Amino acid sequence: MRIVGIETSCDECGVAVVEDGRRILSNVVATQIEFHKPYSGVVPEIASRKHVEWIADVYLKALDEAGVAQESLDAVAVVNRPGLVGALVVGVAFAKALAYGLGKPLVAVDHIKAHLYAPLMEFDIPYPFLGLLLSGGHTVIAEVRSYDEFRVLGTTIDDACGEAFDKVAKHYGWGYPGGVVIDRLARKGIPEACAFPDPSLHKGRHRYDVSYSGLKTAAIHQLDQFWNPEYPRTDENLAAAFQKAAIDMILRRLELAVEDTGIRRIVVGGGVAANSYLRNALGARSDWHVFFPSLPLCGDNGAMVAGIAYHYAREGKFAALDLDVHARVEA
Ligand code: KG4
Ligand code: ZN
Repeated sequence: MRIVGIETSCDECGVAVVEDGRRILSNVVATQIEFHKPYSGVVPEIASRKHVEWIADVYLKALDEAGVAQESLDAVAVVNRPGLVGALVVGVAFAKALAYGLGKPLVAVDHIKAHLYAPLMEFDIPYPFLGLLLSGGHTVIAEVRSYDEFRVLGTTIDDACGEAFDKVAKHYGWGYPGGVVIDRLARKGIPEACAFPDPSLHKGRHRYDVSYSGLKTAAIHQLDQFWNPEYPRTDENLAAAFQKAAIDMILRRLELAVEDTGIRRIVVGGGVAANSYLRNALGARSDWHVFFPSLPLCGDNGAMVAGIAYHYAREGKFAALDLDVHARVEA
């Protein structure tokens, strides 16, 4: 079964063609980073407008790279939740027109489920597993029981993990996306230079919840309080200390989730999955079985959408042409 997957929930315009849930024939991602860079964050209206401008070209490129004719597609899949509403609408409207024009069924995909499915396109991973999804918009520890079934164990009570990286980098004028720059700076820094506390340890509604807003505030406004005077106050040292605190915070909750569920298989996803400190820390856990998707499948992309859609399509779970979009997960 050959499916085209469309992803426009944030600032990546992604279209991919995938066969039978795994074989990626093309995976085109047009990133809008340079347009959001001046604002050090994603500007929703710019995101929507760029998707409108680009979506048809990205689609044609995906067909071209896959070397397939659109008539050979068996279904059209699109992310309709969660995400920026104005951005989601572009992908959903395009997908509807395509499905209608080609006379093919439409599949609605949840962005979180698609991220958690991405590593299954590259590895054979039995269910259940714990999903760790860290991006600019999401911070989720979930128990994943099937491609369509997951239980959120923990999340953030304020900022998303990647968002905290972006905001700290913005404050210090380090560049955008913050995660990438902090990761790079941190390689030359000493994490022990600053001992940030974990402000969320006892605050979360749930045992596995985290809070990034407190850490962000500490990294921006409370350095005097937490800095170890034996170390120079350099960007590199601050980046290394912040990165360690941000990642350790979520890893402590993951550790609790492993203890409580007894599940030692971990699947990581989202843009922050590219982080080298996270990769090293999880890579060192020889008692866990950790799966990282390759970088093109870590960030937002159409392949994960077309991939998971195969399973819905096989079960005849299609969407109607009045499909709506939703900003949040629960909607
Ligand atoms: O999944 P993604 O591409 O888009 C969504 O937010 O859905 O994730 C982007 C986020 C940004 O916040 C960016 O700063 C962060 O992922 N990121 C990183 C790294 N690369 C990207 N965070 C930490 N370390 C990285 N190497
Ligand atoms: Zn995402």
